Parts: sequence; C-alpha cells; structure tokens
Amino acid sequence: MMNVVSDIFILGIESSCDETSAAIVRNGEEVISNVVLSQFSTHKPYGGVVPELASREHLRNIVPVMRAALEEAGHTYESIDAIAVTRGPGLAGALLVGLSFAKAICFAVNKPLIAVNHLEGHIHAVLLEQRQQGKHELEFPVLALVVSGGHTHLYLAESKENSWTYENIGHTRDDAAGEAFDKVAKLLGLGYPGGPIIDRLAKFGDSKAVKFGQAQLKHRDRRDHGKPEGERPHFDFSYSGIKTAVLRYVELNNMHAAIETRRKALIQIEQPSLDDYKQLADQPTLDLVASFQRAIVDDLVSKTLAAAESTQAATLLVTGGVAANSELRETFEREAPKVGLNVYFPSRPLSTDNAAMIAAAAYPKFLLKEFAAMDVSAEPGLVLR
Ligand code: KG4
Ligand code: ZN
Repeated sequence: MMNVVSDIFILGIESSCDETSAAIVRNGEEVISNVVLSQFSTHKPYGGVVPELASREHLRNIVPVMRAALEEAGHTYESIDAIAVTRGPGLAGALLVGLSFAKAICFAVNKPLIAVNHLEGHIHAVLLEQRQQGKHELEFPVLALVVSGGHTHLYLAESKENSWTYENIGHTRDDAAGEAFDKVAKLLGLGYPGGPIIDRLAKFGDSKAVKFGQAQLKHRDRRDHGKPEGERPHFDFSYSGIKTAVLRYVELNNMHAAIETRRKALIQIEQPSLDDYKQLADQPTLDLVASFQRAIVDDLVSKTLAAAESTQAATLLVTGGVAANSELRETFEREAPKVGLNVYFPSRPLSTDNAAMIAAAAYPKFLLKEFAAMDVSAEPGLVLR
C-alpha cells in the first residue's frame, strides 16, 4: 500500500512583546494565514512599550486574532495538528497570555503543544519563505544575524535530521540595534517605533554630515583575547555609545527647542504621513538621522561579515525587526556576494514579530514529536541553543 503523508497544519501564537499574532502554516513552508495586531497606538503616547499595557492588550486581542487566523485559513481548532507558542524571550506578562491560551486550547481539543524560542522563530521566518519559493537546499555553515528591538545576536545554525541547534557567537553588550533606533527617534521627537520612521527619513539626509567615531560604536573588543586555543572568537556589538553621541550632538547644536515643537506637533496627528514627518524635520535633523542609520548599518554589516569570514559561513540569514531596514538590506545585498556569501532576508511583514515564524520553527519539532508538557512555563530570559 502506498504511504500517504498528509499535510501538517500548525497554529502559531506570538505574544512576546507588542504584537498579538496568530497564524496557520502548512508543513513549515506555506503561510495559510498570518494575522498580526500591533499595539502601536496603545504605546505611542509613552514613546515605548509599557509591559502592563502590553499584557492587557494581548488579553483583549488574543481571541479575535486567533479566530481571524482560523477563519482566513478555513480551519478550526479541531482541524489543526498542533499549537505552537512563543515561550520566551520576551515580556513575562505578555508571554503568559499567549502561553496560557495555547495550553487551554490544547487541553480542550486534545492537541500537542510546541514551545518555541522567539529568536528561533525569527530565523525560521527566512527559512519558511525560502521553502515557500521552492528553495529547499541550504548551504551550511549558516550564520544568522537576529537584529531586533531586544536582540542583536549572531548564531551559527546547524541542522541534523530536523533537529536544529544554535551556537551564539556574538551579541550586543548593551543596547540592541532596534533599541538604538527607538531611543534616537524618541530623543529627536520623532515618536515610536523609531526604526521605520528613521528608515524613511534617512533618505532625505546626508549620511556623511555627522561623523560617529569607532569608539561610539564599540568599546572593548574581546576577539581572541585570552581565549583557550580552539575556542571560537566572539563578535560583540555595542549601541549605547552612539545614542549618547546623538544626545551630545543635539545639545551642542541647540536642537532641543525644535525637537519639543516637533514632538508636540506629531502627538496631535493620529497617523503621521511621510510628508508630515518631513515638514516637521529640519535639514540638520535629517542629516543626523541619516548619519546615525549609516553608522549602525556599517557596524552591523562589517562585524557580521567578519564573523562570516571567520566561521567560513556559506549562507547568511538576516532577520528580526531591523532586517526590515532598507539601507541594511541594500548594504548586505551589495557586500555579502563580494565575499561569496548568499544572504537572505524575510519579506518585510515577516521581519517584525509575527506568528507564522513561530509555526514554521515548530514544524521540525512536530516531526520529532518534541512536545511541551502542559506545565511548561514562560521564560522571559530564554536562551537559544
Ligand atoms: O522583531 P521585532 O518586531 O520585535 C522584537 O523582537 O524586538 O523588532 C522591533 C524592532 C523595533 O526596535 C523597531 O524600531 C525595529 O525593529 N524596526 C526597524 C525597522 N522596522 C522595525 N528598525 C530599522 N528600520 C526599520 N525599517
Ligand atoms: Zn522579535
């Protein structure tokens, strides 16, 4: 008799930060639905994510988001094969909403639960879309740069018979790159979240106008110093210095009054357009924004390519919210092939937090029957291995 392998549909749930998301993915390679509800307007007045408000919004939104994902996909809780949920890292209260909800459904309809590391989800966002385009072969060694609001991490990824493992070979010693984007945007009265706004405005500024020195981008370089022989070098990032340098520039150039005027004007506009931002940002601000973005991008690209060279990586995956940045993409796309490296990004909607990436990362675990116990806990500081 012929052995018919049926399709596996996994319902993914993501609630680690300020997006409530549910998605259905077939065989880890086709997004059937991916509903993402951003809490942008809730946190906007505070210029950043307020954890208590995030949990409250997840509670309010999780049922409608889940229903929408099922409906769009033409599925029910009964017709899916497993539920995958982000276990960490992330905000404790926010993670708990998704995890508790996932457990309750698994219990009610008797489906297996799969716990997923959020960072592994970001990596699988790229793999999912590669497979969706029919590309199933991946050339190893694979290096992944996860660059988001909470992380700037480099991993060497290995896969053996569906079992994925990750070795961290670099991370930020202070602020994440996305955090630097958000803090600088807030500092300049541009609002939240900063990354997408700076990305759009940087095109109108001169990226050579303000010089940010190496010292503002990296403090200690630990590479090879005192490492036992045979141990891999580390590639660390640091983005708190550049934020302070922007602040100092603002002070030296008396930009505070203009910033206050802009902040007040932007708060009055429900959803500011690019024209609104442009009208409210003077040329020195545009130049500062462009120079800041250029410095961050150059640093991310040069350190990542150095890590790729040192590990002889054949493939580079760049993922996480900051991977949506146009200048970062263009620079990697230009520079990586020069050193014989294939570089892949997720599409923009799959770069930032979403549940499709969680369902995709869960698929190999489903095949290995790596199911979570019903008493699995949320882990705000979960490490990826
Ligand atoms: O992956 P993500 O959605 O959430 C976390 O896991 O942190 O990433 C959010 C981060 C924010 O810091 C946001 O400002 C940044 O990604 N971001 C961007 C862009 N779009 C989002 N940064 C630079 N350029 C962008 N286009
Ligand atoms: Zn994320």
